[in-house]
Amino acid sequence: MPTEQTLTGKRILLVIGGGIAAYKSLDLIRRLSERGAAVRCIMTGAAQHFITPLAVGALSADHVFTDLFDRQDEQDVGHIRLARDCDLIVVAPATADLMAKLAQGHANDLASAVLLAAKAPVLMGPAMNPQMWANPATRRNRQTLAGDGIHFVGPNSGEMAEKNEAGEGRMAEPLEIVSAIEDLVKGPSKLLAGRRIIVTSGPTHEPIDPVRYIANRSSGKQGHAIAAALARLGADVRLVSGPVTIPDPAGVSTTHVETARQMQAAVEALLPAEAAIMVAAVADWRSETETNEKMKKGAGGPPSLQMVENPDILAGIGHHAQRPTLVVGFAAETQDVLANAEKKLAKKGADFIVANDVSHDSGINPGGVMGGARNRVKIVSRDGVDEWPEMDKDAVAEKLADLVARHLNTTTV
Ligand SMILES: Cc1cc2nc3c(=O)[nH]c(=O)nc-3n(C[C@H](O)[C@H](O)[C@H](O)COP(=O)(O)O)c2cc1C
Repeated sequence: MPTEQTLTGKRILLVIGGGIAAYKSLDLIRRLSERGAAVRCIMTGAAQHFITPLAVGALSADHVFTDLFDRQDEQDVGHIRLARDCDLIVVAPATADLMAKLAQGHANDLASAVLLAAKAPVLMGPAMNPQMWANPATRRNRQTLAGDGIHFVGPNSGEMAEKNEAGEGRMAEPLEIVSAIEDLVKGPSKLLAGRRIIVTSGPTHEPIDPVRYIANRSSGKQGHAIAAALARLGADVRLVSGPVTIPDPAGVSTTHVETARQMQAAVEALLPAEAAIMVAAVADWRSETETNEKMKKGAGGPPSLQMVENPDILAGIGHHAQRPTLVVGFAAETQDVLANAEKKLAKKGADFIVANDVSHDSGINPGGVMGGARNRVKIVSRDGVDEWPEMDKDAVAEKLADLVARHLNTTTV
């Protein structure tokens, strides 16, 4: 059967970094060409240790660019034109080094200079040793790049090309990269255009005195990823975020709050809305009193805190006179995850409860669900339970945004 020409007329600039997975880029070039794309390639110096410009040029049927200071190339095309004359830039394999360079704005070779000068969307397919991928520096760079609007495909988990190495870090397969490219080239479907959606994210901090507070381990990663995914579908996203250390998501209007009561007030001020996705880990209790002075260590021993219940923001929205059409709550549980989520569904007036097991032995690595990069959720609704496999929090966000879009587009006209 002939391959569907999904990329006819599209100009793709492929940046090949120096990793073992560079051999898969040869197949990627072939797959893209088969679909009608014109592929032009840049190879880093390191990439040329793994595959040759000759093979890349033969497959792409074009000149291969390797050197920022090549007089002929600079005269003929120029690195700025290379960056501009394309519809999409794909970096595959994206090495830890290339990610770090772009995250920091370096431009000391052709690949990094072109990436920095790019106007077209950039898709990265990271590939590296699992330890390199899990390294906090790489995690930070990934986060920075995602915040800057860089798209990612993979990495996948499994056997690495190196002997006896396995884990997360394998480059996505060429056909997965092709499918991510097709999605990007098509442009995001604006299924939620103009719909106002409130998202809460992060923990709350409940003060005890001017320097102490009660908090929890929520990082805001899942809530922020959901806000960003909904925005990509065109929604008018209003994010109410507790104190987090991650950047505000692109294309989203963010209100920063600290306590549960502030979060409740901010959420209610944003009504009416068509959906509310309550991801924040809101503190159930706060100290009844907050002293103006720092509590002192003294002869009387430690103070005993009288706790009072915080407002239940999810139930408040679920039963509100201006209840959004769709109300989704998150249930972070350590035991009886499903039974608790089912109870919560009815009690809170929610349409869906996204249940996740945040116990230390949830099996989600690295770092568990709270604070970690991955999640495994069960979607509980009156129609039953849908179990999603463990995936990146960004992938959970994409799937959830699709679910929201499907629900809103069938319940409202
Ligand atoms: C055998 C070998 C395999 C490597 N594989 C990878 C890899 O898969 N991913 C990665 O980020 N770096 C890998 N490196 C390290 C990079 O090649 C090195 O950081 C290089 O500076 C990257 O340059 P570039 O980002 O300009 O391509 C590997 C190095 C060697 C020697």
